[in-house]
Amino acid sequence: MSKPEFDQYAEQYDEILASSVPESLNESYFAEYKIALTASRLGSKKVEHILDFGCGAGRSFSHITNYFANAELWGYDLSSKSLEVAAQRTPAAQLSSDWDTLPSAHFDLIVAANVFHHIPLKERVAALEGCYDVLNQHGQLFLFEHNPYNPATRWVFEKCPFDVNAEMLSLKETVKLAQQAQFRIVRAGYTLFFPQPLAFLRKLEPLLEWLPLGAQYYVQMAK
Ligand SMILES: C[S@@+](CC[C@H](N)C(=O)[O-])C[C@H]1O[C@@H](n2cnc3c(N)ncnc32)[C@H](O)[C@@H]1O
Repeated sequence: MSKPEFDQYAEQYDEILASSVPESLNESYFAEYKIALTASRLGSKKVEHILDFGCGAGRSFSHITNYFANAELWGYDLSSKSLEVAAQRTPAAQLSSDWDTLPSAHFDLIVAANVFHHIPLKERVAALEGCYDVLNQHGQLFLFEHNPYNPATRWVFEKCPFDVNAEMLSLKETVKLAQQAQFRIVRAGYTLFFPQPLAFLRKLEPLLEWLPLGAQYYVQMAK
């Protein structure tokens, strides 16, 4: 089997990402906003077991542990080199590159941040079905993706070395895949409308969710 694509980027992941995104977009916010949105949508729902699907180098881990203190955190990724970096970042996380080691019907929450555009088209439903199996009865999956209709997103995508073999998927396509995997759609919407200089407007973003102009989107799904 060939080496997972992200092994080659594991050590320099943060630097490569930062150099692909204009400074004015303040990409460090991008990892946190996903977890903040997830926590706010879940409200008081009990979350004890979390899986970061396609966790890569663990950029979301510190935010997950901040927003979901005391929850057990697992990270899964094909790239074991990325998992080595993630382990240094968050030694308490349980990490695996072998799907079969994940407990079935266990997780209250799965977050998949910018992973599905790296999964070949034919494998996407199966990946979602796998997530469905490891969620418990009340579990939910939050899937975040780039919005292919946003020109700034497209520009970054074309420039980013990680994305040479990737294929973006629209919100509509993600909803369809989720339904094929038997998920029920709880909510979906566009995100990231305002760059850092306009950060004071970000509190308006929940009102704009319907507008397909945000740089990214999310789909909240349940069993
Ligand atoms: C752009 S990175 C995102 C990493 C992390 N979620 C983040 O937000 O920083 C995409 C990750 O998806 C992983 N990936 C690609 N295909 C995958 C699959 N079928 N299952 C799990 N992870 C996968 C890659 O190895 C890579 O670490």
